[in-house]
Amino acid sequence: MTSVFHPTNDETINPSGNKSIRDVMESFTGRRGFLKGTLATGVVTGLGGFSSGAMAYPVSPAPGGGGITFASIGPNLNSIGFIDAVNVPVGYTAKVLIGWGDAIGRPGAAANMHWNAATPMTEAVQLTTFGQHNDGMHFFGFPAVGVSGLSSDRGLFCVNHEYVDPGLHVNSASYGSHPLTAAEVAAQIASHGITVIEVRKVSGAMTVVRPSPFARRITGKTPMLMTGPAAGHAMLKTAADPTGTQVLGTLNNCAHGYTPWGTYLTCEENFNGYFGTTAAKLAGTPLSNLERRYGVSGGGFGYRWHEQDSRFDIRDNPNEPNRFGWVVEIDPWNPNSMPVKRTALGRFKHESAGHVIGTDNTVTVYLGDDERNDYMYKFVCANKFNPTNRAANRNLLDTGTLYVARFNADGTGVWLPLVWNQGGLTPANGFADQGEVLIRARQAADRLGATMMDRPEWVAVHPTTREVYLTLTNNNRRGTTTASSNNPNGTTTAASARPPVDATNPRQDNRYGHILRWNEDGGNVGATTFMWDIFMECGDKATALMPTARYQGNINGDDLGAPDGLWFDHDGRLWIQTDQQGDGTGDWVNIGGNMMSVADPSTREVKRFLISPRNCEVTGVVNTPDGKTMFIGIQHPGEDWAPAGFTSKSTWPDSGVNGPTTQGGVVNKPRSSVVVITKDNGGVIGT
Ligand code: FEO
Ligand code: CA
Ligand code: CA
Repeated sequence: MTSVFHPTNDETINPSGNKSIRDVMESFTGRRGFLKGTLATGVVTGLGGFSSGAMAYPVSPAPGGGGITFASIGPNLNSIGFIDAVNVPVGYTAKVLIGWGDAIGRPGAAANMHWNAATPMTEAVQLTTFGQHNDGMHFFGFPAVGVSGLSSDRGLFCVNHEYVDPGLHVNSASYGSHPLTAAEVAAQIASHGITVIEVRKVSGAMTVVRPSPFARRITGKTPMLMTGPAAGHAMLKTAADPTGTQVLGTLNNCAHGYTPWGTYLTCEENFNGYFGTTAAKLAGTPLSNLERRYGVSGGGFGYRWHEQDSRFDIRDNPNEPNRFGWVVEIDPWNPNSMPVKRTALGRFKHESAGHVIGTDNTVTVYLGDDERNDYMYKFVCANKFNPTNRAANRNLLDTGTLYVARFNADGTGVWLPLVWNQGGLTPANGFADQGEVLIRARQAADRLGATMMDRPEWVAVHPTTREVYLTLTNNNRRGTTTASSNNPNGTTTAASARPPVDATNPRQDNRYGHILRWNEDGGNVGATTFMWDIFMECGDKATALMPTARYQGNINGDDLGAPDGLWFDHDGRLWIQTDQQGDGTGDWVNIGGNMMSVADPSTREVKRFLISPRNCEVTGVVNTPDGKTMFIGIQHPGEDWAPAGFTSKSTWPDSGVNGPTTQGGVVNKPRSSVVVITKDNGGVIGT
């Protein structure tokens, strides 16, 4: 199957009209001349961005613990023979924990029943086995919840399943013309969502507990509640749910978050791709501004679900897409709990939900919208975290203020509130109430004049300083002609604008991405102002692309591009995962395949820690509390196999190169999987 199901978010374009940073600079009278001068000489693209001439950005602390002392692993290059395996530095071991179709340990007959990957996937099998294309993940240590003293030997492991490869599902190399059945659509829907498994160390090795009362699949059809200000809104009501409060399922679960009260957050990203309709219906009722702003279209990404399930037909059920694009809270400790879509956090293409707790127990959640030219948000809870009463935190995410970021050219920034009747979010401008502001959050942010970004992916918060880091993976429309911006009236088609370069997104045709960071003013996580800095411009030091300066980046150490996954370990090492397509060819000839690297936030030195199998991305990372067991995800190995055959690009993991798998040494299909990494001497990962 082609990578059309793995959207680069390149298919569509963003239509708002906001001021770009350059526009802001033009109106920023105090520093106008300086800013023009620095842009002209390219100074702003150097390490530290504006820090030399603008407000002084505070210096990051050195990571604690044992530092970053391992010897880097080399890049996975075609020129030396691409390695179709997870490889880690000398002294470390990487072994598969669980992969697509492996039993999750549901109590009963299927507790140890693994899918045979030679056969098509079914809904029944998928409901007791690991979903496809895993992404964000978290380890919740036993025995306590949300307090210190958590176990590193036993825990609940939650992981997202972002999307599916329909060809691998139905055993067809030509899915577009496959005679699709309702049962096959149901199998794909069941492949999405979340898996909860119990994991435990047995004889020193982390293993899946089978059976476990905690084992659970949450899918694209699992009943869930909608709560918060938009719950029950007219735009969320459907024929099947006239209350607008009960939804079937969660889809395109990309990155994630967790809360200090022991719940898991899953983010709905490219939900638009599952919806479609017929040409005739679309001719009768053309796409609305709302649909175009969120990338909803007649064909979707080609899943064809609407042919068999009218829930996904945007003309039969025009409000159904409004019920996706949210952050969903799940309590893994109660396998019977109903997941909750928290509408207060806004509706967009949610990538991740990284939280921080302030000194006064204020809870802030950082939320990126991964689309070219879309925005960076944060949600500040109205009520405080209660560290001694778990039940008191249950609905914290229902009440608070959603903000969107405006990055000023002088290194400062402002959080703009998405509050009804403020900042032009009024009935006169089409916003009837707070619920509509949240359902149409992108358009509300257009109106507020948020800064168009180069695809916000993951957020990581430093464990002691609360400094926030954000990956901006790429933007091939940045700085291209003819320049345009997201229209303030919300009429721009998703990702369609071509914003000029600006201070926070300083490179034209940003192919390799960058990492931004900021500190909230006064160290107050609920502050409405902050100071920002460019931490790293990714790139290829040996690039042949012209002009060289645009693409070589400024990495101190091992090059990388397309940063996506981002996570701070407990000691303050910054782990960076990549998602590029082109393994060792084209723009990636010198960088090679996808990888996971680690950066020192103080020195900015980067070391490559892991290289991945072919045609995958590395996404999802977490350690046990002792830092000695790391979980990472390999998603969509062997993608773009069609038409040559399922294993034409990759035979991972059933080749057995990262330990034995459930398929008994037979390779039928590449399978997305979770990998456990340990240090052979039992030490902390990264040392
Ligand atoms: Fe699913 Fe933006 O990565
Ligand atoms: Ca991602
Ligand atoms: Ca990705």
